[in-house]
Formats: sequence, structure tokens, C-alpha cells
Amino acid sequence: MTLWSLLLFPGVIVCALLPLTQCEEQRIPEEKLLVVTVATKETDGFRRFLRSAKHFNYTVQVLGRGQKWKGGNYTSAPGGGQKVQLFKAAVEEMKNEERIILFIDSYDVVFASGPKELLKKFQQAKHKVVFSSESLIWPDRHLEDKHPHVREGNRFLGSGGFIGYLPSIKEMLSDWTGEDDESDQLFFTKIYIDPAKKKSINITVDNKCRLFQNLHGALDEVVLKFEDGRVRARNVLYDTLPVIIHGNGETKLQINYLGNYIPNTWTFETGCTVCHEDLHPLTALTESEYPLVMIGIFIQQPTPFVAVFFERLLKLQYPKNRLKLFIHSQKAHHEGQISSFLQDHGSLYEDVRLFGHEEDMDGAASRNLGFDMCRKDKDCDYFLCLDIEVVLKNENTLKILIEQNRSIVAPMITRPGRLWSNFWGAASILRSELTDQELFNSHILDPDMAYCHNVRNKGIFMYVTNVHSFGRILSTENYPTNHLHNDLWQIFENPEDWQERYIHENYTRIMKDKLIETPCPDVYWFPVFSDIACNHLVEELENFGKWSGGDNRDTRIQGGYENVPTIDIHLNQINFDKEWQKFLLEYIAPITEKMYPGYYTKAQFDLAFVVRYKPDEQPSLKPHHDASTFTINLALNQVGLDYQGGGCRFLRYDCSVDAPRKGWALMHPGRLTHYHEGLPTTAGVRYIAVSFVDP
Ligand SMILES: *[C@@H]1O[C@H](CO)[C@@H](O)[C@H](O)[C@H]1NC(C)=O
Ligand SMILES: *[C@@H]1O[C@H](CO)[C@@H](O)[C@H](O)[C@H]1NC(C)=O
Ligand SMILES: *[C@@H]1O[C@H](CO)[C@@H](O)[C@H](O)[C@H]1NC(C)=O
Ligand SMILES: *[C@@H]1O[C@H](CO)[C@@H](O)[C@H](O)[C@H]1NC(C)=O
Ligand SMILES: *[C@@H]1O[C@H](CO)[C@@H](O)[C@H](O)[C@H]1NC(C)=O
Repeated sequence: MTLWSLLLFPGVIVCALLPLTQCEEQRIPEEKLLVVTVATKETDGFRRFLRSAKHFNYTVQVLGRGQKWKGGNYTSAPGGGQKVQLFKAAVEEMKNEERIILFIDSYDVVFASGPKELLKKFQQAKHKVVFSSESLIWPDRHLEDKHPHVREGNRFLGSGGFIGYLPSIKEMLSDWTGEDDESDQLFFTKIYIDPAKKKSINITVDNKCRLFQNLHGALDEVVLKFEDGRVRARNVLYDTLPVIIHGNGETKLQINYLGNYIPNTWTFETGCTVCHEDLHPLTALTESEYPLVMIGIFIQQPTPFVAVFFERLLKLQYPKNRLKLFIHSQKAHHEGQISSFLQDHGSLYEDVRLFGHEEDMDGAASRNLGFDMCRKDKDCDYFLCLDIEVVLKNENTLKILIEQNRSIVAPMITRPGRLWSNFWGAASILRSELTDQELFNSHILDPDMAYCHNVRNKGIFMYVTNVHSFGRILSTENYPTNHLHNDLWQIFENPEDWQERYIHENYTRIMKDKLIETPCPDVYWFPVFSDIACNHLVEELENFGKWSGGDNRDTRIQGGYENVPTIDIHLNQINFDKEWQKFLLEYIAPITEKMYPGYYTKAQFDLAFVVRYKPDEQPSLKPHHDASTFTINLALNQVGLDYQGGGCRFLRYDCSVDAPRKGWALMHPGRLTHYHEGLPTTAGVRYIAVSFVDP
């Protein structure tokens, strides 16, 4: 016997020392236990409760089915008298006096273990009735002094769950004469703090949460313990494994089960309900039955990679004639990108509604409007809410979500704390349950949180599916808006997206697949920039426009380092030097170190610039050394297409790279051996990005 079980089950040890028969005699048979709950409505939470009860083989009697609930709601405590009323009537009917009754809430409760453990712990409590415990007193704080002191554990009674012998329970309820909307909590509390009644009924509270864990005010003391593919909540303060978990009060616990009802992942979130569940996928949709989906796209702030968002939207695997778009842009910044997308592709969609910044709607108002348009559109089957910063990598997201067959389900998107930036809802639920037109409004919560809060208050579960990988959320922080292509500056804030957009698709396999070429001795040539990166950088510089040369020429020569003047723009002139250094460090340094073994670089540079060659401006560059240990020469456009001629000749080896490839970098030693010249550009305009690394 380990210390662990010693701590948990002191009673077991005693029992293990006694003859087996004696032990068996003492144990209450599981058939004697009856679980009673009141549920006037079959909420998702109630179904979850039943699933967990069924999994552990509890026998459950449900009271109040189909009755109108008059016992108050979450927000208008106290209440719950109707519950006691129904319970009292039911126990009065019960004849088997040997019964053990567990009376428990069900909308926000799950079982974490079976009847055997529950009964054992009940017996160990050595009282006729055991209530769940609370660390906070509610609803009447003035009664605090009247509560018996406890040496350790929670001092107050919680009426959300209790277990006891039938006769004792009958006795306890006999005094009840309350109204439906009276507080059940207060009623039981008054019995508990009355010393005579407490003694005669023989009541205690489960103050160390051995049977019941109320989560209200206790989230800090509960952790999840994963073991053998199961998970159990553990109270670390009292070192107990509660049998019943009650997500009461403002705790937003949602616990869901795998298809086979083994708890998989539980997530606590303070702001919003989150539950993970492996779902049994439905049969795949067939072409003929695609429901009509309205996609709400919400742009609340300048956001990186908006053009990529729309490219991805276009690639979403779903018939476009079954899609309607609702786009709201709160800021003018992206409206050019939106209209160019709509101009090129808008007609593919069944319908497009665009609301620009001039509408003066905030995030909540636009979401409410979007939902309402779906609600009122009889063809609208689903509403997909998509914030512009969501990167939906999975082209099948829409189909997968529909196939989950849930009222509300969100794809799991990674970025902590922002899980609910997007979600998914069936219009049927918008019409039947979520009819409130101000679902997103709240005085204190942001629109997503307000939505979660309001939906949860209706007893509707929101699901997150993490069965597939769907994508991520961009950071919109530190997004500059003063450049032509602001996305170029995102290498720090959104490195993954930056790489996808700007790094050559074959870069990651240049080592593995030996894509690095050696056109001249110690000159390495490899793909690094995407086409778009090349275009954006050139466009950015042309937009900036301050090419050196003419009057500028002299000021461009810094301290004699730049000994061969070129027509160029230095990257620090467009505030791109930090980003460029990061690029060199991330994407060039590893290759340098591989190709020139034993050399390590931090990719320091004084000079990094884009050179422009034109026949009538500066067509070529005379032979020279570079002020660098090694040089990166990155071609930004394509010979034959954008210009004629060009290239680079290494004189010592009489070797030329005369057909530069767009997006490919040449890497060569700077001083001493690789004396080189820029070959004449004979037509068009040629651009190269040059970095003198480790000067
Ligand atoms: C529930 O009962 C069934 C059949 O009686 C049994 O196979 C199963 O193991 C029980 N489950 C638990 C968790 O005890
Ligand atoms: C809860 O009750 C309060 C007061 O009776 C009421 O204003 C509120 O609308 C109710 N909320 C819900 C979700 O029914
Ligand atoms: C409660 O009942 C148990 C027997 O079930 C008894 O041992 C215990 O002394 C009683 N406690 C009180 C305070 O009456
Ligand atoms: C979707 O789920 C409901 C229960 O929530 C079920 O009745 C219905 O058959 C399911 N639909 C499909 C196509 O399986
Ligand atoms: C990447 O490599 C593949 C062949 O391995 C080639 O077909 C493709 O064109 C390359 N991509 C680019 C952008 O050059």
C-alpha cells in the first residue's frame, strides 16, 4: 500500500486488515443508491450529466421533466425552491427506507467515478446526510458566525449536491413549505446551522471535497490528473479525488467526453466555456446537399496578411454558390484589398454584403447584424463567424464543421486566450434559442466573451473540435500601416506567416534535397525568396523612390566602405534593417555555416541595399571586392522576363553566373578571393538585394 492511497483512502487500510466477510458486510450495496436530479429542460449540460451517469452505471431518476422552471436562473439568485418542492414530493413516494439518495444538480455536473467509491466515501463520513461544501458563503453572509468551525476544509454548505439515507432526507425535507423561487441553499443552511437539527438529522458537510467538488471559488485548488487515458480532477489543497464535479457559480467549467465517454481533455477557462470532445464524425456531405452558409468576416483593426486571408477564403473547399459573404470592416485601412477581392471573385458567391467603416458599427453591432441577417434569411442554414486574423489552414474546415452536427462548434485555433475568436453556429439555433438580437453585447465583456456568456446562460454548449488541425490566429500587435507592403515587416510578430508568404517554397528542403548549386568555386546558389517577396520588396522600394545617384551619389558613400557606388536604396532608409538582419540570421546564417564549415555568423551587416541596374542609368558595375566576410546577392526579378543581360562574373576563376534566377541568392566570400563585377544589363530593369555580412 503506497502512501498515496493511504492518504486518500484511510478506510481501506482498516478494511484490508479485517477478514473479508466483515468488510463485505459493512459495504453498502450499489443497488441501494439512487441518484435524483431535477431537470425541467434537456440542455446539453443535462445530456452530458446523463452520459457520465450512464458510463458509471448510476441509476438516475429525473424530476420535473417538461415542467416550466420557476426556480429562478443563474443571474437572479437565490432560487431553487421548485427543486426542493419536486424532490420532497418524490421522496415522500419512496417506500424503500434502506435507500441511499444522492440529490444533485445536473446542468453543470459530471461524475468522475462510480457508485462504489461514492458510497465508500459516504460511509467514511460517518453521518446520515453529507452535503457538498463551499468556501464562500451564499446567499446570506450574515449567517457566517453561526456556522460550525472546521479545523480544515470548507466551512459552508452547498445545496447543489448531498447524499443521505432516505429516512434522514425525509426528515430534513419535512419542514419545507417554501415557494418555488425561494432559496434551497438558504433552507438547508438554516437546518445545518441549527445545532439541534444538525444533530438529530445527523448532517455534516464534505469539507475536504472527498465526494463533491464545487468549483465556485475553488478553481485554484483543483487540477486535472491524467492517467491511463483518463483524467480526474484532484483537489490539491486537501489531496482528494472528488467523485462529483460541479461547475457552479461563475466557474465556466465544461467537461465533455470522448465518444466512448472517457473524459479526454478538460479545460478551465476563466472567461469562457471551452470543451474539447472527440466526436463521431457523421457521414460526409455529398455534393447535392451542401447547406447554405453565411460567412461573416470581421475586420476590426489593421491586420497582417489580409490578402492571404482572401486567397485562403477562395480556396475553401465548398461550392461558392452555397456561400454568402457578410463583410464588415471597421477601419478604412483594408478596404482597398477587400474591394479588389470582391471585384475579382465576388460574383462567384451566392451573395455578398459589404459594410465599410463609414457605417460606424463596432464589433458587437456588426456581429449582431450578421447573425440577424442569417436569422432572417430563410435560406441561411449556418453562420460561420470568421475574424480577419484567423488563419484557416484547413481547406475543408467548413465541411468538417458541418459534419460535426452540433448547434455550435468552433474549429480549434491555436493562440492561447483567443480560442473563441471564431465559432460556428447552425441557424436553427439562432432562430429557436439564440433569438436575442444583442448576443454580442455586454457592459464588461468583449464581444466574443459576451457571446459565450450569453450562449452559456441559455444552457447551450459550444464545442471546440480539435480532431483536425485547422489553423491559427495572427498577432495584430505592432502592425505598421505606413508602408506599401506592411506584411514585409511581420518577420518578428508573425514569423510563421511571414515564412509562408515570403520564403521560397523549396527553401526548407535545399539541404535535404541538395538544391544548393555551386556555379563557381566557393559560390553557392540557392532559392530563398518567394516571387511575392521579390515583388513586394521591389514595389516597396520603388514606392519609396529615393534611389541614390545623381545629386545623392556622394552622400551614399559611407566612410569609404562602399567603394563602388551603385544606384541603390539602403534597407535602413525604409526602416527594414532589423527585419533584414532577422531574415539573414534565420534563413542565411544556417546555410553559411553549413557551406563554410567552422565559420559562425551573427549576420551583422553595415550595408544592405537594393541595387537597380538599367541600361540608361547604371547598367553594370566594375570589378571590386566587397567590404564583407561574405556577401549575399539576391535576385529580385527574372532575366528574360523583366530584363536582359545582367549577372555576376568572378574574375579570378573566370566564372560567371549569367542567368540569375528570381528569388535565388548567391553567397560568396567578400574580400581577397572573389573579386567580381556586375555584368551589363542591356534592356529592362534589374534589381538585386545585396548584403555585406560581417564587414
Ligand atoms: C457498468 O455495467 C456494465 C454492465 O453491467 C459493465 O459492463 C460495466 O463495466 C459497468 N461500468 C462500470 C464503470 O462499472
Ligand atoms: C434571470 O432573471 C432575471 C431577473 O428575474 C431576468 O432579468 C433575466 O432576464 C433572467 N435571465 C435569463 C437568462 O433568463
Ligand atoms: C451520526 O450518525 C452516526 C451513525 O450513522 C453516529 O456514529 C454519529 O455519532 C452521529 N453523529 C452525531 C453528531 O449525532
Ligand atoms: C444530428 O444530431 C441529432 C441529435 O442532436 C440527430 O438526431 C441527427 O440524426 C443527427 N444528424 C445526422 C445527419 O446524423
Ligand atoms: C520547387 O521544386 C519543384 C521540384 O522539386 C519544382 O517543380 C517547383 O517549381 C519548385 N518551386 C519553385 C517556386 O521554383
